[in-house]
This record gives sequence, structure tokens and C-alpha cells, in this order.
Amino acid sequence: MHAVTVSVALDIDPGLDDALALILALRSPEIRPALVTTVAGNGPLEMTTWNALRILNYLGAAHIPVAAGASTPLVKPFHGALDYHGADALGGLDLPEGRADVETRAAHDLLFDFAAAAPGERILIATGPLTNIANAFQRHEDMPLLLKELIIMGGAFGLTPFGTGNQTPNAEFNIWQDPDAAHVVFGSGVPMTIVGLDVTNDPTGALDASDLARLRMASSREATLVASLLQYALHRHQYCAMHDPLALAVALDRSLFGFVTGRPDVVTREGEERGRTRIQTVALSADGLGSAQVATRVDGPRFKELFMGRMLES
Ligand code: BDR
Ligand code: CA
Repeated sequence: MHAVTVSVALDIDPGLDDALALILALRSPEIRPALVTTVAGNGPLEMTTWNALRILNYLGAAHIPVAAGASTPLVKPFHGALDYHGADALGGLDLPEGRADVETRAAHDLLFDFAAAAPGERILIATGPLTNIANAFQRHEDMPLLLKELIIMGGAFGLTPFGTGNQTPNAEFNIWQDPDAAHVVFGSGVPMTIVGLDVTNDPTGALDASDLARLRMASSREATLVASLLQYALHRHQYCAMHDPLALAVALDRSLFGFVTGRPDVVTREGEERGRTRIQTVALSADGLGSAQVATRVDGPRFKELFMGRMLES
């Protein structure tokens, strides 16, 4: 048993790799998922919410409350990513129906309650567009300073050879989808760690056919589920990038990463620069407010060992 188990909320848009992050969270003693909120991202909101519910149900975690958040970005129209994630955003996963009931209160209010219940102690992990987080911060101005940390999967900061866009040459999908929300969050003063394509596209941390073969030997529901998701991804690509599980891994073992500290910014205007992220490493305030730690390096093999170990244990 871990000395301190941190309560986390997961704001997700499952999505193949969001699902992998959710499964990793459920198998990790360092954290206790206390709330799941969903956002339109990889698929429309109804789909990402349904996916979260059916995964939680299948893995015996139906007690975790799920709230459906924003169905569109703050300002710009919605675009999904079903071409990568499959028609149901989970690669056609065959799972029994989960419970259909979601929380009646708004996701942004539940996120605030989650943070306010233990000021300075709780971690929010966002692996989709930042719309729900921006909505929560705009409605509850004190929320950014109530969180211990906001961990974000998003952005491409040009910090490594992998740090170029995947939605456009300049922009990563989550940030491109709702750059206005990213702008709100980046300027909020929340203690922030950002894991971008700079490290998540490093192939040393990606899963491949040999990992799939090992997962197929295991019999747990988690391993079976991960194998199905991975099989879909590997059917179309040589590697399965672990974008969202890598963000989750910050809450499990920060020493897997190297970071640079600076002030993040994002381009919100339409055009080829939309969603471009940068980190400025000068002019930080003395208290560090407004700054973020952005990942510059990951120990890919050690991350994979962590992920696979958690999936393969019975
Ligand atoms: C991010 O975009 C989504 O498609 C993935 O789930 C991940 O959160 C990677 O750019
Ligand atoms: Ca995602």
C-alpha cells in the first residue's frame, strides 16, 4: 500500500489512448480516481461519455462518478479524430453496455468541488481539449489555486525532434481543438505540468507488437482490454503512441521525465499558426505563478515497464 494515495480527477475524451490512461489509473496505487469528466475531443461528447462509462463498468469501477462536460470548444467549431480512433473512438471495441447514468450537476462545478474539498492536495489530469477546465476556471476564479497540480497532455513545444504538430504542422490535436480554452488555462496561475508531443511521440515510450503479444498471454480484464485497443492501433501504425498514459504517469513517477520551467502560450487565431504552443523561459515571477513545467525528456523503456507491469499483474 502506498503511504499517500492522491485523489485525482480525470478529464478525458476516450479515445484509444485516453482509455489506456484510464486503465492505468485504475491499476495504480499511487492515485485514487475520484471523478471522471468527459469532453468532446476525439469523438462527440455522447461518444466519449459512453466510452468512459462502459470502460469503468467493465473494470468494476462503476462507483466513480462520471459527468459529461462540454460538447463544443469555447469558441471554435468541433472537429473529432475518429479517423485515428475508429468509428466509436475506441477502435470498434466490443464491450457490454455500461451504466448510462451520468451526474446531473455540471462537470465544471463537480471539478471545482473536487478541488475545493482538499485545497492544495488534489491533482487534475486533462487528456483532452481543455474546454471543461477553462469553463471551471472561468466560473470559479479561485479554483486554479486550490489544485495541487493540473497535468495536461497537450501541445508541441519544439523542445525535441518529436515536438512538431500532429493536427497541423504547428499544432497538437488537444490544443488545436480548443486553443481559446488553452489560453484561459495557461494564464490562470494553476500549478501546471504539460506533457506534449515532444515526449509522447518519442518511439521509445510507445507500445508495439511485442507488447501486444505479452498482453495476450495475460487473462485479466485490463490486459484483455488494452490488447484490443492496441491491436486496433497497431493494425494501422507500427507503434501505438502513449500520449495520455504518459501524462497520467507524471502523477505516478515524476522521475520518468525531465522538464523545463517557463511560461506557456498558445496561438488562438485562425490560420496556420492556430494551436501553436511555445514555452518562454524568461521573466518568471518570484512565486512561480503562471509558470509550467513542460516535459523535455522521458525514460521510455522505464515508462513501458511501469505500464506493462501494471497491466500484467494479476
Ligand atoms: C492527443 O490527441 C488525442 O487524439 C489523443 O487522445 C491525445 O490526447 C494527442 O495529440
Ligand atoms: Ca485524449
